Amino acid sequence: MDKIEMIAKAEQLVAKIDDLPTIPAVATQVLHLLDQPDVQVEQVADLMLSDQVMTARVMKMINSPVYKPSHQISSLKRALVYLGLRHIREVALTTSFISAFDETSGTFEIGTFWEHSFGVGMVSKIIAEKIGYLDLERAYIAGVIHDIGEVFLSNYLRDEFQQVLDSIKDKPIKLVEAEALQLGTTHCEIGLCMARKWNFPEVYCEVIAYHHSPAEATIDPVLCAIVNLADLFYSVRELNYGGWVSFNLVEEPSWKILKSMSPSLGQLDVERFCYELDDAIPDVKTLVRSIFNSQE
Ligand SMILES: [Fe+2]
Ligand SMILES: [Fe+2]
Repeated sequence: MDKIEMIAKAEQLVAKIDDLPTIPAVATQVLHLLDQPDVQVEQVADLMLSDQVMTARVMKMINSPVYKPSHQISSLKRALVYLGLRHIREVALTTSFISAFDETSGTFEIGTFWEHSFGVGMVSKIIAEKIGYLDLERAYIAGVIHDIGEVFLSNYLRDEFQQVLDSIKDKPIKLVEAEALQLGTTHCEIGLCMARKWNFPEVYCEVIAYHHSPAEATIDPVLCAIVNLADLFYSVRELNYGGWVSFNLVEEPSWKILKSMSPSLGQLDVERFCYELDDAIPDVKTLVRSIFNSQE
C-alpha cells in the first residue's frame, strides 16, 4: 500500500481523537532550555521541580540500575549533575512519555509496551556505539519512542487492533503488515501524525515513520536502521507485544545500511552480541518497574 495513502488514513484516525495525550508542558520547556547555550543545571532543576510527577520519576530513574549510581542520590539537583546535561534531555523526554500514556488502558498491557520500548532504546544505544554513530543519546530516545503509534492503536482502536492481533496469533505474519492490510494504515504512520502534533524534531518523526523500512528514510537512514535492527534483535530475543519476528541478518536492509557506514560490523560475532543484549534485559525490566512504582 502507498505510504501517502496510509499517512492520510492515519491523519483521519488521529484527528478524530479529542483526548489524545499531551506531552507535559514542562518537558517541552526543558527541551528548549537545554538547547540554549550556557544553560545551568540549576535552571533546569528549578524548571523540573515545578512538575512533581516528573521529579519523582527522574529520581526513580536515576537510582535504577540503568544509570548505576554508586550510592543513592536523593536530590534532584545532584541527580541532574550526575546525569549531565545531555542525559537530562533523554530522561525528561522518556519520563514525559510515560506520563502521557500511563493512565490509559488498552488492548495490550502498557508495562509490556514500555519494556519493549526501553529495551529497544538500550539496544539502539549499544548498536550506535558499536558502529560509531556519534549521538548515542539520540539513538536511545529514537528507540524508546519508535512504536508510539502502537499505543494509539491499543488505546483508541481497541476492537480493530484486537482483531489484528488475533489474526496473526501463531502465524508467520508481521504485525506491521497485518495492520496495513486490515486497518489501511500502520503504527508507523499513526505515530508520525502523533509526533508531528507534538512538534517532535523531524529526525524522530522519521524514525517513527520508517523504522520498519529504513531504506526509505532520507534525513537519517542510519538512525532508522539502528532502531530497526535493535527492534528485531530485541523482539526476537525477548519480548514484543504480538506478531511474528524472524529475520536473516545479512538480508536485512538495515544491516546493509549499517555495514556501509561501519564495515567492521561484518566481523561482528552475532551470537556473542545477542548474549550481550540478554545481559541488558533484566536492567530494562527493573527500570520500567521502578518508573511505574514511582506513582504509588
Ligand atoms: Fe514498530
Ligand atoms: Fe518495535
